[in-house]
Amino acid sequence: MAQFNPTDIETHEFDVIVIGAGGAGLRAAIESLASGASTALICKSLLGKAHTVMAEGGIAAAMGNVYPDDNWKVHFRDTMRGGKFLNNWRMAQLHAQETPDRVLELEEWGAVFDRTEDGRILQRDFGGHRFARLAHVGDRTGLEMIRTLQQRAVSLGTNVFMECTILSLLQDDSGQVVGAMGYWRETGKFVVFKAKATILATGGIGKSWKVASNSWECTGDGHALAAWAGADLIDMEFIQFHPTGMVWPPSVRGILVTEGVRGDGGTLRNSDGKRFMFNYIPEMFRAETADTEEEADRWYNDKKNARRTPDLLPRDEVARAINSEIKAGRGSPHGGAFLDIYSRRTPEYIRRRLPSMYHQFKELAGVDITAEPMEVGPTCHYAMGGVRVDPDTTATTIPGLFACGEVAGGMHGSNRLGGNSLGDLLVFGRRAGSHAAQFATSASAPKASESQISQIAKEALEPLNREGGENPFDVLHNLQDTMQDLVGIIRKESELSEALSKLDELEERRKKAAAGGNIQYNTGWHHAIDLKAQLTVSKAAAMSALARKESRGGHTRDDYPARDDEGFGKINHVFRWNDGTATLDPETLPQMPPELAELFEEGTH
Ligand code: FUM
Repeated sequence: MAQFNPTDIETHEFDVIVIGAGGAGLRAAIESLASGASTALICKSLLGKAHTVMAEGGIAAAMGNVYPDDNWKVHFRDTMRGGKFLNNWRMAQLHAQETPDRVLELEEWGAVFDRTEDGRILQRDFGGHRFARLAHVGDRTGLEMIRTLQQRAVSLGTNVFMECTILSLLQDDSGQVVGAMGYWRETGKFVVFKAKATILATGGIGKSWKVASNSWECTGDGHALAAWAGADLIDMEFIQFHPTGMVWPPSVRGILVTEGVRGDGGTLRNSDGKRFMFNYIPEMFRAETADTEEEADRWYNDKKNARRTPDLLPRDEVARAINSEIKAGRGSPHGGAFLDIYSRRTPEYIRRRLPSMYHQFKELAGVDITAEPMEVGPTCHYAMGGVRVDPDTTATTIPGLFACGEVAGGMHGSNRLGGNSLGDLLVFGRRAGSHAAQFATSASAPKASESQISQIAKEALEPLNREGGENPFDVLHNLQDTMQDLVGIIRKESELSEALSKLDELEERRKKAAAGGNIQYNTGWHHAIDLKAQLTVSKAAAMSALARKESRGGHTRDDYPARDDEGFGKINHVFRWNDGTATLDPETLPQMPPELAELFEEGTH
């Protein structure tokens, strides 16, 4: 029987703790330290292995290195349009204004970006961006970003706690967050981190879907920790399905195939070998006659003044198009679409620009992308929704709690443009670190409640101490099937309602699950614990999706296929968790000021 002994619990105390060591967490820790706060970084995985390493294509920043006409206003406008105007305008503004400086700062700290011929940072094309603006390092930008930030954070003296899962935030009598409690994944022992300010930087929620690009840590821990503490979650219906994940072999299904392939000239084709994206653009942009693909592309560019092919439409549109081709029986042999770069680019170019893609397909699928097409299909990639934050400070609605990166909502509206997440991590990670450190200077010493600590430990140990309960892996697999089949890329009322009943059943099963075995590195136990967060967050997604009776961005309703600007165009859904009871309320979005609104008027460039 695993037991908790409150007298020998390991305890640490800092001004600021940062939960999550991806790009946002590392950048927050750097800023917090630079602001003079004692700072700890706590991560579920090993340092350097956070999901940010999987970010491939680049950081969108209006630096104007390739297209001098680019500037923050154009980037802001692209982001708002991409998000179908549901973005928090202030977050989108700060992001567009500050990303170029954040990229230059990364370079100063040692990141080695690809270069233009005259030696500036090279920028590549991505969907929905008017200009080529993604600063990149081949297709390994996330890895370079993590390497650089990690080096900086460690050299400044961040205290790093690895392989630690946070179970709950700690709150004092007034409700202020005063730290967090977790357990070491290796030993199962509990640990308390007292802190004057706590930053959530835990990333995404994709592991509750069966096909996802996310790595194993992305179980929505931060979203759930915040909700359980009483913070608001917004926009949880908006889940991004990246159009191109691997589809074959089954063991690697869902792994990301960077949009950089299309940015560098790759085209999508169906089983007839046709460039089907031309069928998913309005008729006025389609070529009346075109003998070659290049001619059709030129026609589209001229008509749309778009400077790119329809293969680079925003992700929501491309994912839906691939889904439709598969449903119409024009998919690839393993249920995807073909992505072809070899017929337009030389092997040398492909290996230089897309080294990870080359190796990924060669090693994992036995496909040589310099000579054959890839098979790709939509994969759950990113949560646009998250913890509601103040745009300038990243403060949540609960004192002492801050959130940045994917766990925070608002920045991307209903659909994120590719490349906008790495900039988001840097801009809001920095702001979170600075404002949390500032908050800590005036906060009193954190007082954690012993009864709360005992209660958290007792609940966490239940799956280990329970005899003969269900295997947590079975509950997890049923959850993933439910979210994939019923809260997926195309949704409808009957399926969303069914999902909600199934989630209630799964919650009951979770409460009776038994991990078996002992406390040391017990993955069944770890899953039993993760499931609590996954079920809370899945409920938030399903409830919000049911309430939004329109299609917008990452949320497509089969029964409400049109956008309803009147009914839902200015509405965020706010999800709250109150002692196990979930509520959802519509709230009106903050209004954009006239000087920004006029950027969307006809003729403004
Ligand atoms: O396609 C990609 O390289 C992914 C980038 C992103 O999600 O921003």
